[in-house]
Amino acid sequence: MAGLRAHEGLPDWMDARHSTRAYAPREVPLPLLQNLLVQARRAPSGANLQPGHFYAVQGEMRQRLTTALETAWAAGAQESEDYPYFPRPLPLSLRRRQVAAAQALYSALAVAREDRAGRDRQFARNFRFFDAPVAMVITIDRSMGSGCYMDLGMAIYGLMLAAQAQGLATCAIGALASYPELIRRTLALPDSQAVVCGLALGYAQADAPVNRTRTERSPLADFFTVLG
Ligand SMILES: Cc1cc2nc3c(=O)[nH]c(=O)nc-3n(C[C@H](O)[C@H](O)[C@H](O)COP(=O)(O)O)c2cc1C
Repeated sequence: MAGLRAHEGLPDWMDARHSTRAYAPREVPLPLLQNLLVQARRAPSGANLQPGHFYAVQGEMRQRLTTALETAWAAGAQESEDYPYFPRPLPLSLRRRQVAAAQALYSALAVAREDRAGRDRQFARNFRFFDAPVAMVITIDRSMGSGCYMDLGMAIYGLMLAAQAQGLATCAIGALASYPELIRRTLALPDSQAVVCGLALGYAQADAPVNRTRTERSPLADFFTVLG
């Protein structure tokens, strides 16, 4: 990376990115956000279909959305999701990864495993977009095939890395996909739009314990094989 300092290159942004769940009260200017989305759209996609739509929800509409989500979740309301995310049941090997990620989060927060109320308090923050200055809902047209979800995922990761490069932080919020009808109704989205996930984006709150959460990755040999 000629001309760039060592900490300013893509490998560093990839290493430094982590899910950020507490944000400083500092606005993200709209032109900066728009630039990040234009960069994210440079992601490749099959036949260059560029699937997916990003909605930045703000003001009174964001307030209505978070209130509706928090209320639905607190009441134990259930909707069927627009698409299946995880295998059901989760095989034991994957369950171990899920538990390790949860443990990383709750130990950063000093919330004990048996502290249900503490874990619920953290989970509820998903529905407030972790109070990030930018709250996004990401959708895809229902008619798209599952390959298009892969394309959209690349664009989402592109957005995360573009944000990281600008000193911003992010967290994808799959929890939102539990309430697709509520989200469509509140945001007046057409029924053709499947709710994929949410995204929090903003400047990290540096001293927040939750932002010390770090997760491990599987060793290379678990997911890479040279054949022939
Ligand atoms: C599509 C997607 C949905 C996610 N949904 C949530 C969520 O609802 N709540 C949350 O706290 N983290 C969520 N995460 C963050 C993951 O838990 C996190 O990416 C994973 O544990 C790896 O940690 P890292 O992002 O810090 O590297 C989501 C991540 C992705 C990619």
